[in-house]
Amino acid sequence: MVEREHVFSQRIQRIRSSGIRKLFDLAQTMGDVISLGIGEPDFDTPRHIREAAKKALDAGYTRYTPNAGFPDLREALSAKVAKVNGLDYTPQEVLVSGGGCTGALLLAMLALVDPGDEVILSDPCFVVYEAVARVVGATPVFVAVREEENFRLIPGDIAKSVTPKTKMIILNSPANPTGGVQRREDVAGIAEVARTYDLYVVSDEVYETMLYEGMRHQSIAAFEGMRDRTVTVNSFSKTYAMTGWRIGYAVGAREIIDEMVKLQQYTMVHAPAISQRAALAALNGPQDFIERMVAVFDERRRFLVPRLNEIEGFRCPTPKGAFYAFPNVEGLGKLSKDLAQFLLQNGGVAVVPGSAFGAGGEGYLRLSYAQPLSQLEEACNRIEKAVETLL
Ligand SMILES: Cc1ncc(COP(=O)(O)O)c(C=O)c1O
Repeated sequence: MVEREHVFSQRIQRIRSSGIRKLFDLAQTMGDVISLGIGEPDFDTPRHIREAAKKALDAGYTRYTPNAGFPDLREALSAKVAKVNGLDYTPQEVLVSGGGCTGALLLAMLALVDPGDEVILSDPCFVVYEAVARVVGATPVFVAVREEENFRLIPGDIAKSVTPKTKMIILNSPANPTGGVQRREDVAGIAEVARTYDLYVVSDEVYETMLYEGMRHQSIAAFEGMRDRTVTVNSFSKTYAMTGWRIGYAVGAREIIDEMVKLQQYTMVHAPAISQRAALAALNGPQDFIERMVAVFDERRRFLVPRLNEIEGFRCPTPKGAFYAFPNVEGLGKLSKDLAQFLLQNGGVAVVPGSAFGAGGEGYLRLSYAQPLSQLEEACNRIEKAVETLL
């Protein structure tokens, strides 16, 4: 065996494995743990989608596909974004991405961002954004989102962070990890900042269907002057409970999509053929599954938030989107990572420390309610009991 010291690229040295992993590795070694850490629906992919995939296998969809995705799927996605998001993109302006929305994000950043560019992110935000920004050599610039403002990204705060190096804003509404939802006027304001400073926007809309209390999703690309400076990325993962199928999509100006397709050709090549046929069935089939799933999430949300607020040291704002509660736990006087570890070891409940999502997440925990109500009830009882020993 040859021993050698590895010399890794600067690119890879700029990122570390997600802080969430260690905690969940520990949880795996313990029995009787309730995990509220997982960011995926606890539903099976609807039957008609699974059946379509089985049929596709037998029909020979086992080979390479066009790099941008099957033409009929691109057409269906062009129709979907027109109908659901009010966006006007031709099928040639749609990329079906391998690797889900995460793959689309990577391609968009690689296509548009150079080393030294600045990318504006909310703090806290989904862990992938900072890592991908760093891998492409960009400098992430964090804009705080605050509990008092329901974790909305405020246009004026973005404007204050813009420098001559700013290239892109990443927008995510509804948001992971906070459940925050941008209002129409916020999105209009962010669009104005993007136009004023000539910035690109990558809009991650994977939770677009998971909205409560009458909130409506706003796609920034539909705002004036935003069509050609926005890349909207989305996925089948959450909407159709298809996290394992690894298929997502991006829509944007033809020139940008062409560059992203070029990159996909040399990297992920294309999304899996079977997943593409399943995705087409998802778009063309009945959509009532989504409404039913979101109603279940809403029921759990309406249980979980008040219940967390009963626990001493917890203050939980009401999230209006996604499937996460993001309680403030500063009152317990522990770093969120220590508190998460404590709850795992003393309560048998796995949650994600807010600090895993950026410095602005310190003092918070993220609890996913993509879990049955009975599990949520038991988890809250356990947390309450464990926390009592801290007070
Ligand atoms: C905001 C956000 N974007 C993207 C993803 C990943 O989506 P995909 O499975 O399509 O890569 C997640 C998953 O947790 C997410 O929370």
